Amino acid sequence: MSHYFENDSNVKSEERIFAANICGANLNFYSDNGVFNKSGIDYGSRLLIEEFIKNYKDGKVLDVGCGIGVIGVSLSRLLHADVDMVDVNLRALGLANKNIKLNTLTSEMNVFESDCYSNVSKTYDYIITNPPIRAGKKVVYRILLESYNHLNENGELWFVIRKDQGAPSAKRDVAEVFKNCEVVNKDKGFFILMAKKVSL
Ligand SMILES: C[S@@+](CC[C@H](N)C(=O)[O-])C[C@H]1O[C@@H](n2cnc3c(N)ncnc32)[C@H](O)[C@@H]1O
Repeated sequence: MSHYFENDSNVKSEERIFAANICGANLNFYSDNGVFNKSGIDYGSRLLIEEFIKNYKDGKVLDVGCGIGVIGVSLSRLLHADVDMVDVNLRALGLANKNIKLNTLTSEMNVFESDCYSNVSKTYDYIITNPPIRAGKKVVYRILLESYNHLNENGELWFVIRKDQGAPSAKRDVAEVFKNCEVVNKDKGFFILMAKKVSL
């Protein structure tokens, strides 16, 4: 069986568009088989976007594991934030590019292939992720912990993770690196967590 993070060209393409109202904005997303999310916005992603929007001040954002671009596209539309988006799934990256055009975004957006931060050379004010739990703890922890090296001073890591998928231990382990990590919200078992890179 293929997973949403694998580049499996045998997965038959059946492109479709779904609509989503996010914080009052009507957005549309191309999606397909073999990508996350196939037919609608994930509840955790929605909660993450809503909390992030309430707290965003200014600055550049990196969406790690962007999939078809739901988070990055929403932040561009609603905050006019400059957002870079990375993923390992080439079909998802193609759709993320189409979703930028479909939603006629005006902020600066870059979409590129990267295994975690392997091709990320810049630093950001915010890193946001709904990490790929099914890819395994090693990948999830690379995304969460290595974010520290790609954040500017006072930059923030924002992520969503379910309680039963390890939210309490992820909070503890992220706090070891950042020296802080707070639960910003929780709902239906999804935890929205934020850690800030502060000078020691
Ligand atoms: C849970 S999905 C989230 C997708 C999208 N951000 C959303 O919220 O709808 C996680 C994404 O991480 C991607 N991913 C898996 N392994 C990765 C890796 N090593 N580096 C970067 N992205 C990865 C998957 O392809 C998938 O698109």
